[in-house]
Amino acid sequence: MNSVLVVGGGGREHAICVALAKSPKVDKLYCLPGNAGIAEIAECAPVSATDLEGVLAFVKSHPDIGMTVVAPDDPLAMGMVDMLEENGFRAFGPRKNAAIIEASKAFSKKLMKKYGIPTADYREFDDHAEACEYVKSAKYPLVVKADGLALGKGVVICNTVEEALAALEEMMVDKKFKSAGNVVVIEEFLTGKEVSVLAFTDGKTIVPMVSSQDHKRAHDNDEGANTGGMGTFSPSKAYTPDIAKETEEKIILPTMRAMNAEGRTFKGVLYFGLMLTAEGVKVLEYNARFGDPETQVVLPRLKSDLYEIFDAVIDERLEDIRIEWDDEAAVCVIMASGGYPGSYRKGVPIEIGALDPDITIYHAGTARDAEGRLVTSGGRVLGVTAKGKDIDEARAKAYANVGRIKFDGAFWRTDIGIKK
Ligand code: AMP
Ligand code: GLY
Repeated sequence: MNSVLVVGGGGREHAICVALAKSPKVDKLYCLPGNAGIAEIAECAPVSATDLEGVLAFVKSHPDIGMTVVAPDDPLAMGMVDMLEENGFRAFGPRKNAAIIEASKAFSKKLMKKYGIPTADYREFDDHAEACEYVKSAKYPLVVKADGLALGKGVVICNTVEEALAALEEMMVDKKFKSAGNVVVIEEFLTGKEVSVLAFTDGKTIVPMVSSQDHKRAHDNDEGANTGGMGTFSPSKAYTPDIAKETEEKIILPTMRAMNAEGRTFKGVLYFGLMLTAEGVKVLEYNARFGDPETQVVLPRLKSDLYEIFDAVIDERLEDIRIEWDDEAAVCVIMASGGYPGSYRKGVPIEIGALDPDITIYHAGTARDAEGRLVTSGGRVLGVTAKGKDIDEARAKAYANVGRIKFDGAFWRTDIGIKK
């Protein structure tokens, strides 16, 4: 018996589980901690994704587990893959020394500078007074970023000196993101279209997936606070074959090689957050994992067996396999709890009406209450993914079904996929 354990419990992990469940090579799925949707296809247990010892104990006590997929950033940065491998278990995801490409923006900016990978100009500061001095004479807008992991919320675009000083105060003095703000990166503001490109890599070969685009602001027209992501579509029309080629040559391959040269071989999914600027493609950020909610539009388009891809990455034989995608477009609309990304209620009952058969609901923050009812348990609650011959068709289908799902306080953006 060959079982796979997925670590994490959001929409991304649900999409990974749905894709793995299709593999004839996977007999059973486990997910820690999972959520109410994942529990329909995987055995879940209340072990937190950041509980390294708990995950190790779970793997040790389930000898049928042949592979563990570590999906979220925190356990990767904490070294969960290293720990599993040191104990003789197969794991998919980068080791700690490679996950730093996401976990430290100061590291990734230095890497790009050293290896000539195009990105915004920047300065790095560990001293609050020096950072304040710098922003008083810098060009605006500029972008202040906490060095460490901050749930996608440690980036502030500043139009004035006052805004920059306030961002620095929050990060470096008030420690809003704890130690993640001990160091800050202050960078040039780039303009252009944003595209996300995820890639499978075993350190020898790197295979980009189909492109996608996230919508990070909470409200329509990119207004409101930055969130973990309110909706996605795939593919991005702006990411033309020419731009894809330029990106592979100037960014994707050089990044894999740079990590090898640094003795930090990256194995897993490397995520390139790109800005298509007038001067060419530039890197906004790297992530050491599948994006959320990018995964909810990318994996539904995968025709190949995801388990086989993970297996090939672990064994460093990615070069030998073919990875195929369908030509359809996909749109995912996130339904969130009122108040997100600020504070919100949990435990609100969710009613899912009759949906079209080709719609996929990816659960993010959902749980079952004591009576077994489906309730909210997080900020991003559900992702509604539809496919179609183009983005417009997929969009119309997704929104028609969003209207049939109800919970008190639910909100969503109504413009996902409009600015394709
Ligand atoms: P990050 O977490 O670094 O991707 O930043 C979150 C969001 O902030 C990005 O998706 C962009 O929309 C925006 N952003 C980050 N860096 C820059 C930059 N240098 N110029 C313009 N926008 C940026
Ligand atoms: N959707 C952005 C991220 O996963 O970081």
